[in-house]
Amino acid sequence: MEIKAIGCEPLQLKRVHLENSRTLKVYQDNGGYESLKKAMNMSPDDIINEVKTSALRGRGGAGFPTGMKWGFVPRDSPKPKYIVCNADESEPGTFKDRYLLELDPHALIEGMLIGAFALGVETCYIYYRGEYKYLIDIMDKAIEEAKAANLVGEKILGSDFTCNFYTHTGAGAYICGEETALLSSLEGFRGHPRMKPPFPAVEGLYACPTVVNNVETLTAVPQILEMGGEVWRDLGTEKSGGTKLWSVSGHVKKPGVYELPMGYDMEKFIMEDCGGMLRDDKKLKAVIPGGSSVYAMRADQIIGKNVRMDYEGLVEAGSLVGSGGFIVMDETVDMVDSTKNLTEFYKHESCGWCTPCREGTDWLTKIFTRIASGGGRPEDAQLILDLCDNIEGKSFCALGDAAAWAIQGAVKRFPEDFKKYLLSNGNSNH
Ligand SMILES: Cc1cc2nc3c(=O)[nH]c(=O)nc-3n(C[C@H](O)[C@H](O)[C@H](O)COP(=O)(O)O)c2cc1C
Ligand code: SF4
Repeated sequence: MEIKAIGCEPLQLKRVHLENSRTLKVYQDNGGYESLKKAMNMSPDDIINEVKTSALRGRGGAGFPTGMKWGFVPRDSPKPKYIVCNADESEPGTFKDRYLLELDPHALIEGMLIGAFALGVETCYIYYRGEYKYLIDIMDKAIEEAKAANLVGEKILGSDFTCNFYTHTGAGAYICGEETALLSSLEGFRGHPRMKPPFPAVEGLYACPTVVNNVETLTAVPQILEMGGEVWRDLGTEKSGGTKLWSVSGHVKKPGVYELPMGYDMEKFIMEDCGGMLRDDKKLKAVIPGGSSVYAMRADQIIGKNVRMDYEGLVEAGSLVGSGGFIVMDETVDMVDSTKNLTEFYKHESCGWCTPCREGTDWLTKIFTRIASGGGRPEDAQLILDLCDNIEGKSFCALGDAAAWAIQGAVKRFPEDFKKYLLSNGNSNH
């Protein structure tokens, strides 16, 4: 598997290939914790403004501007404040955070410390998906090393700044990546989402101001402080600053984790950098660029279309950056079959709290199972779209929307795959 930067110097990936990259010594020998020192000589406003200038947008899926989110935290609140790192990484097709956690844990600690210093936070949590339990030892060790070096804990580097770190795991539920469900789970409750507003920045963990950020968002912060927000932003585009990690899987010769400057050309990325199609005699059929929860793109929306891989470029091209889980499918993929797989995922992961998502994902699974087993009816495509319409925008949290988008995208953009199932079995009683 490839882990490398293309079209830019490696920033997020600059240490991952070094021997003992996860140790404090290697991190510090390669510039680690210098950005924290720099930040500690800046005012909180200047740090937040630097992050705003960088045009860093949250890498967890929603793409919310990070500096703006930090700016929402009330400074004068008498309550404790928290930073929670979302290391749940459960979106199908997404596996970039795992390498940062495994190979460069100090970058996350440093990014969180900079945020903590800027926002007056004394307690940071890192919430891992249950399946990543094996990575927690690595982070705990890094936290201990940082503590021994007076980079974490009381009176950091001789200042008045105190900040402690705790790691925590979920039990393997996709919904616990949704930020409010994550906070419920972290508090020891069942991982149900909460009503927004109030947003976590104002009322989050234990009803206190809380910033929830993705791993990759936070590991970008030391680079931004090191280079300056403007320089970092200009690596990408005006509204999508910097570089971004993409987890590439599926029918390409070189799957892996790639760091690209925002705005990179999608066709070049697939056909050249990822080595082109896995089997030379097979054509590209579809790409899901941002994890399973975004619209799949047809090959004819990509080839010859100069699609820019950034937040605006992908919206213009009919999809989203999402979590950067980049799934490439060749012409052998049957979209009914692959979408059935996704309906099962969303049904299984629906937390059951609200009716449209709980019932809707169950019905979608039943319909896809019937179609795939030969019982398709001509009216099924419309039935699926009607069901999605009753989930999208009517569910309590974005998991319902995500399920609807994944399925709508397949039905609307690959009608020929559905047609062959739906026309031949019009009278079936399945
Ligand atoms: C069902 C669902 C699952 C999610 N899973 C994750 C996840 O695994 N990791 C993540 O960072 N964000 C995930 N998110 C997005 C978070 O709710 C939140 O937007 C994000 O952690 C904020 O961090 P960011 O601004 O740095 O992106 C998920 C959202 C939904 C609706
Ligand atoms: S949309 Fe789904 S996951 Fe979200 S609250 Fe409703 S049932 Fe739970």
